[in-house]
Amino acid sequence: MSTIYIHWPFCISKCHYCDFNSVISPSHIDYDHWLLLYKKILLQFKDIYYRSEEITSIYFGGGTPTLLPRHFIMELLETIHLHFTVTDPEITLEANPKTISKSLGSTGINRLSIGAQSIVDDDLKMLGRIHTAAEAMESVFEMAEIFQNISVDLIYNRPRQKLSHWLGELREVLRWPIQHISLYELIIEEGTKMKDIIDSGILSRPNGDSIFLEETIKTTEGAGFNCYEISNFARPGFECRHSMSYWKYEDYYGVGPGAHSRVRLNGKKIAIAQASEIQEWLTWASGSAILDVEYLSAEEEFQERLIMGLRSAAGLDMGNISPELREKHGIDNKIQSLLANSYIMLRGDNVILTRTGLLKLNLIVKYLSGE
Ligand SMILES: C[S@@+](CC[C@H](N)C(=O)[O-])C[C@H]1O[C@@H](n2cnc3c(N)ncnc32)[C@H](O)[C@@H]1O
Ligand code: SF4
Repeated sequence: MSTIYIHWPFCISKCHYCDFNSVISPSHIDYDHWLLLYKKILLQFKDIYYRSEEITSIYFGGGTPTLLPRHFIMELLETIHLHFTVTDPEITLEANPKTISKSLGSTGINRLSIGAQSIVDDDLKMLGRIHTAAEAMESVFEMAEIFQNISVDLIYNRPRQKLSHWLGELREVLRWPIQHISLYELIIEEGTKMKDIIDSGILSRPNGDSIFLEETIKTTEGAGFNCYEISNFARPGFECRHSMSYWKYEDYYGVGPGAHSRVRLNGKKIAIAQASEIQEWLTWASGSAILDVEYLSAEEEFQERLIMGLRSAAGLDMGNISPELREKHGIDNKIQSLLANSYIMLRGDNVILTRTGLLKLNLIVKYLSGE
């Protein structure tokens, strides 16, 4: 089983906190040309790497893929259905409340991930969002009339935000007609406007206390959403198939500027990266478009499996770690010590973080991955 990721790199404006591979959309885009290039790369994946395995999820991310014309989305989905084995896929579109419309209902998309970020207007301005809280809420209620699978993104532990205010905001959003919610602690990324604002002292740095995370998990689970990853919560059966596939370290084919892929070839995992810079990507994709392949070493694959596996509630499958690597990293002794401290539990071959362990995710990853 594998998944397909389509990256659309344009947004109406750049949010102050965001360091994703996205830029402000030019006034004119030749969509037909872009569509041709996306199809060309998909077909290359199909011809060289695809082994007819089932595609369980297709994900349009960005950037702001809700800016795409509907025919673009539909034609790309048609190409995927024509050349890949796709029976009952989850098809997600990342959506910005300002650029959403009911016409999305007829495109084949069956899951929306709506970036609300906050329901406090002043904070939306501080984050550089282009919509109001009311617009975010209205877009969710409107889309809930046609989509049965809606996720909302919120960012918490923002400058000036008190825990009690955040929990009040969260409780309100948890009453919306949604099946999934992604809750991210604000990260102050290098090179963003938010970093400049904080460095200049205009806004305070977010609180480094883990109490925000602990209370967020408690409140969200209390409302019937299971925490199946440190930032992701779902009503039973609505876990994001796409993310789960990443965490299980399954293959994925990424298309678009900056998109990554991981594919198993001759028993080894290969990494394929595409240029992030738009013009560079366009020149490459319009020309040879030869995919730049790098074989991962056993050590690199181990590190990726560890980071991916430990994040999710399914855990890290030790059956996939070779005896040599287990010995090299002293994994068996480390597992005993983590068990003794109640940071992990074992289910069959899977190492799963307990709630206490989840709060120390980064430290545990570092501990297990070190030699
Ligand atoms: C790739 S973004 C795309 C979402 C969509 N473009 C939008 O903004 O509406 C996915 C999510 O990552 C989260 N995110 C991005 N940058 C972040 C940061 N610096 N700190 C915390 N969360 C962040 C936001 O919640 C965002 O909705
Ligand atoms: S709309 Fe999304 S991708 Fe675009 S700048 Fe804002 S957070 Fe980043």
